[in-house]
Amino acid sequence: MSEVIAIEGGHKLNGTVRIGGAKNATVALIPALVLSDGPVEIFGAPNISDVSALAQLLRELNCVVEISGDHIKVDPTNMINIPLESDAVVKLRASYYFMGALLGKYKKVKIKMPGGCYLGPRPIDLHLKGFEALGANISYDEKEGSYLLEAEELVGTSIYLDFASVGATINILLAAVKAKGKTVIENAAKEPEIIDVANLLTKMGAKIRGVGTDTITIDGVENLHGTFHEIIPDRIEAGTFLIIAAAMGEKVVVQNIIPQHLEALISKLKEMGVKMDIVGDSIVVYGGNDLKGVSVKTQIYPGFATDLQQPLTALLTQAQGESTVKETIYVERFKHCEQLNKMGAHIELGTACSLVFGRTPLHGARVEATDLRCGAALIVAGLMAQGVTEISNVYHIDRGYDNIDRKLITLGANISRYEIDD
Ligand code: EPU
Repeated sequence: MSEVIAIEGGHKLNGTVRIGGAKNATVALIPALVLSDGPVEIFGAPNISDVSALAQLLRELNCVVEISGDHIKVDPTNMINIPLESDAVVKLRASYYFMGALLGKYKKVKIKMPGGCYLGPRPIDLHLKGFEALGANISYDEKEGSYLLEAEELVGTSIYLDFASVGATINILLAAVKAKGKTVIENAAKEPEIIDVANLLTKMGAKIRGVGTDTITIDGVENLHGTFHEIIPDRIEAGTFLIIAAAMGEKVVVQNIIPQHLEALISKLKEMGVKMDIVGDSIVVYGGNDLKGVSVKTQIYPGFATDLQQPLTALLTQAQGESTVKETIYVERFKHCEQLNKMGAHIELGTACSLVFGRTPLHGARVEATDLRCGAALIVAGLMAQGVTEISNVYHIDRGYDNIDRKLITLGANISRYEIDD
């Protein structure tokens, strides 16, 4: 038996949906908390399984963790630096932020290779090069599948990233905040989630300049202390709901958004013919538009987010004409296309790109969420399709979307969860 999300398509959506805290910020903020000498409280945390897995890892490290709604309080005062080798590590990618954080705090960390969505190869060479440049020795035990990172001391240096990697930028930042002297990260990534992590570290007493630009400078400090932090809204959840509203909305208000974080998507949706108004921290989306096909190319921030190309592809199946979707971040991130084709889409794959031939009527089918954002794409498609769509592997969706079915039901969707025979 396994759980499916079942969607009866064709229902128009109306009302207001509130976006939660950013998953990809939260999953870095939680490991960052271990760098503090005292309790830290974060507000606005999404209720997703990636957060539960990281909370479990904190408890394994003997941190006191209290979760109440979207509020997480962590007291690392009595923590112990044991190897992180439980299943929780391999449930998600972001467990690798404990590498930087524990190396920064204890100069030593032993941790299993992280897991997460399969989007093609996802090496961590840039993270490791950064740790080595700071003075860490790294060994990998193939039998155990674990990394051991150790340093006599961490000494600030200049680190150039061959690619502006989100994960490597954050991990090096975590390792460098308590290193001796000055660290400069060149060609750093600029995603809003990185700024959020740097803001938390700064409130804890770290000295960081230039976050959000190509060059981040960190002056190491001896101690970091407790603080409070409000997480930024999730731009990918927000983008997913904007796409859903464009697909099936009559009038949908997506609340708690930082519109600047979504400029690339907003401009693409407008090019497709979606009508919307930005009102403060909300975006009002009006449905009933004749959509036209567009070309999309994923890029590092502030370019079009790779995490939104999958849900957007579902919408493009209902746009008139041919659309092209090029991937420059994860060249194999196209597994959703086969699933969408099962529902009646006409999508052909090229090298690191897909061609969507619209518009083709979609029908309900039994489909598989092969990864988190594929799951989001299938939800968009299921809402638009005639009949019932059953999406399996819902654990991928629950890793990153806080109660997406409940939020959609509030807007008027017909969604349920149940067990089916495999
Ligand atoms: N890369 C390397 N070497 C490295 C690190 C990255 O070659 O050491 C390559 C990757 O293989 C990939 C590209 O660089 O081709 C981008 O990787 P990046 O490090 O920027 O991404 P990430 O940190 O692994 C985060 C998000 C992803 C999101 C990407 C891009 C988290 C936990 N994950 O991944 O989110 O797609 O940035 O914005 O923050 C998702 O939420 O569905 C998701 C996959």
